[in-house]
This record gives sequence, structure tokens and C-alpha cells, in this order.
Amino acid sequence: MSDHATLTVNGITVELPILRGSCGEPAIDITTLTAQTGYLAYDPGFGNTASCRSAITWIDGDHGILRYRGIPIEQFATKPNFVEVAWLLIFGRLPTTPELKDFSAKLTANAHLHEGLRHHFEGFPVDAPPMAILSAMINAKGCFEDDFLSSDDQQFEDAAARLISKVRTIAAYAYRRAKGLPVIYPDPKLRYIANMLHMMFSMPYDQYVIDPDIEAALNLIFILHADHEQNCSTATVRMVGSSHANLFASAAAGVCALWGPLHGGANVAVIDMLEAIHRGGLSPEDVIRRAKDKSSGFRLMGFGHRVYKNYDPRATMLRDISERIFTKLNRQDPLLDIARKLEALALADPYFVERRLYPNVDFYSGIIFRAIGIPTDMFTVMFAIGRLPGWIAHWKEQHDQPGGRIARPRQVYTGPDLTNYTPIDQRPAPAG
Ligand code: SDX
Repeated sequence: MSDHATLTVNGITVELPILRGSCGEPAIDITTLTAQTGYLAYDPGFGNTASCRSAITWIDGDHGILRYRGIPIEQFATKPNFVEVAWLLIFGRLPTTPELKDFSAKLTANAHLHEGLRHHFEGFPVDAPPMAILSAMINAKGCFEDDFLSSDDQQFEDAAARLISKVRTIAAYAYRRAKGLPVIYPDPKLRYIANMLHMMFSMPYDQYVIDPDIEAALNLIFILHADHEQNCSTATVRMVGSSHANLFASAAAGVCALWGPLHGGANVAVIDMLEAIHRGGLSPEDVIRRAKDKSSGFRLMGFGHRVYKNYDPRATMLRDISERIFTKLNRQDPLLDIARKLEALALADPYFVERRLYPNVDFYSGIIFRAIGIPTDMFTVMFAIGRLPGWIAHWKEQHDQPGGRIARPRQVYTGPDLTNYTPIDQRPAPAG
């Protein structure tokens, strides 16, 4: 295989080195392209561009493979432990028993919020979007942290533990405030997920009973959301972190990017779509027709992916989890039946088959959150809690890479050529 690409443009011929990832994927190194040719590369949406080298997550979109630090996600399903996977992603290997115990203890010890932060919630309108609260409160939490840039592992691990621990508390408090309920303080006797459910659903006079199957399901669901290479929100965290902004500001920016319905907000849009069908306004066949009609501007939410051109392995596992949860809870949900019908219609339709559009991570996750009693406006918050370890891992990886440069893409300018300033009394009225 060649070790370089040859490009000839405008009478200039350059040789560009070819990089190969550890799983063999080739990349043309264009870091000297502009200097050598005067040309920019143009790639809106960065679908053809590797923005960095990373050792955290590997996705093979053609074969539906997802691995965290080389470990296939399917192998985490046996005894799912989100905290263990968070440590793996951030520090690059599976923790030993003492390391996991120590990290878990830090999460337990840091679950509370500074009382000043707790009062912050009172400033939000009761119907404030929880993702807005989450982003604001993560950034506000940064005000209580040293604006450290040290990559000293111990200091970084402590800060990561504080952020991963408190993100649950912030989410639970946002939920309680929206419901007009008193906040429930964390319980140090409970494990990570159980404590989040306790803070969301207990009452001062009635402790929420943790169902171990629900706790295990949420552990696995958060693991499946934990990282996904250079997706929009992770790329945002790296972009913000590249200016040496601190970890909390970078994570707060990641929350905002995740919020969009084309990204993490899709799990809410899927439920809205399924509920519209359930209400009787639209049939599944109508929805498929609209999704295929470009003029409708409508997309089949929870379907399609920039990288997966095969089944998103997470969607397969989430569909299995949904079936286990509904059996365990002895619950029926018409939305699950509608989702299955939509999936079957799409997978049999040439429009979706030709474009290799399959269910993605967001197609089934909302149905599971709903069965557990998590309200729709908290679904993307759940995604953010799951994705936070990935954001932290990427922020650290970029921060630790020597010679890191601030991210600053170029553009192809389409505005007016040289134009002189016109005094206001000499400006023509706008046409039309
Ligand atoms: C997540 O990047 C990540 O890794 C994200 C994520 C993660 O873990 O971080 O996996 C989480 O964000 C999952 C995606 C959640 N979003 C949705 O479910 C929203 C619906 N999906 C689409 O909007 C879309 O599939 C995207 C945004 C996910 C991907 O968009 P792309 O790669 O830009 O795809 P595209 O717009 O180039 O589409 C290619 C073709 C187009 O048709 P043609 O122009 O070729 O005729 O496929 C069509 C699109 O119109 N298409 C869809 C579709 N998705 C793509 N048509 C109908 N319904 C869809 N869902």
C-alpha cells in the first residue's frame, strides 16, 4: 500500500503522507496542503475529515462495530458497571479493584452540591429546559473549581470524579424543581445509578425502592452512551478545550451541542414522532412517506447515522434492553409496538435500504426511559450523563497531547469583494 498520495493542482505536484490508524483506516495527512499548494480543503460537516488522532473509541460503521479502548461494547453487558467504563475511557485501561473502589468512593463523597449552587436553581423558570439548566449549572460548578490546566492525574481524577458525580445531582434537582418537589439529598449508601434514581424519585417520607434490574439496565444504557469518537458534542468539547478553556466550560458546551434534535435531542424527537402516530394523526406508513419526501423537511427520527452504514450496535442492545424492561415491569407501551412497526417498514423500504439508514442509539432509548418513569424532557439529560465520561476522556487526551494547537477551521468566502463605506445619508433605499 502506498505511503503517500500525490496531488497535482495548478501545475504544482505535492506528495501528502498517508497515516494509518491502529485498526488500519487510512488518512491523507493534509497538514501541509495549504502551505504547499495555496489551496484549502473543503469539507462542510467534516464527514471526510479526521480532526485528531484518538485512542479512546473505535467505530467500524460498515460492520456496526463499537469498541471502548479496544473492548467491544457487547462485552460490558454481562455485568454492566458505568463507573468502571467511565474510568476505562478516561484513563485508558480497566481499573484494578482498589482503583475502582477509590474512584467510586470519590463519586460518593462528591455527590452533594455547594449550597450556593443549590440556590442557583431557584433562579430558573420552573419550565426551563433541563438541558439549559444542566449546561448552566456545569459551568457554574466550574466557579467552585481551580481553573487548573494540570494534567496531573490525581488532580484531574478528583475533578473528573466531582463532575461525574455532581452531574446526577444537577439533573435530579432540575427534575425536582420542574415538578415542584423538594430536593432529595444524595444517599452515600447507594451506588452511582441508584443514587441518581433516589434523588429523582424518593420523597422525604418515602425512599424510592431501587429495582436491581432497572439499575442494571441504566448502567448498560449509560455505558452505551458513554463515548462515540468525534460526534458533534465531543468535537465541541475538544474545540472548546483546544483554547485551554477548563474542563467544566468545555463540558457545558458539549451539553449545548448534544441538545440539538439531530444529535442527542433525537431521543426526545423519536418519542414526539411515536406519540403523534399513537394519537392517530399519522400512520406509520404516513411517517415513512414523509421521511422519504425531501420537500417535507421531515426525517425519521432515531434513524440514520453519519458513520454507521449498518445497524448501530447500540440500537440492537437497546432494543433488547427495552424488551427485558417491559417484561420485568409487566408493562405494555403502544409506542414500543409503533417503533417496531416503523423499524420493519423502514428496513423493507428501498429509500432507507439504498441510503443504508438503520435505527441509531436514539430510536429505543426514550421508550426505555419512559418505562422507568423518566419524563421526555429529561431524556437528553440522561444522554448527557452517559456521555460525560467520553467528553472528559477526550478533553484529557487532547490536553495531554504535546504540541496541541487551537482548533481554527478555515472557510471558502462567498461575500462581496472590496466595498467602500457609504455615509448613511448617501445610501440607496433597499430594492423591493
Ligand atoms: C446521535 O455522530 C454520532 O456519533 C452521534 C451519536 C453519538 O452517539 O454521539 O450516534 C448520537 O446523534 C445519533 C443520531 C440522532 N439523530 C437522529 O436520529 C436524527 C435523524 N437522523 C438524521 O438527521 C441523520 O441521519 C443524521 C443527522 C443522524 C446523519 O446525517 P448525515 O450523515 O448528515 O446524513 P445526510 O443528511 O447526508 O443524509 C444522507 C441521505 C440524505 O438523502 P439524499 O440527499 O442522499 O437523497 O439520507 C437521508 C438524507 O435525506 N437521510 C434521512 C435520514 N437520515 C438521512 N432521510 C430520512 N430520515 C432520516 N433519519
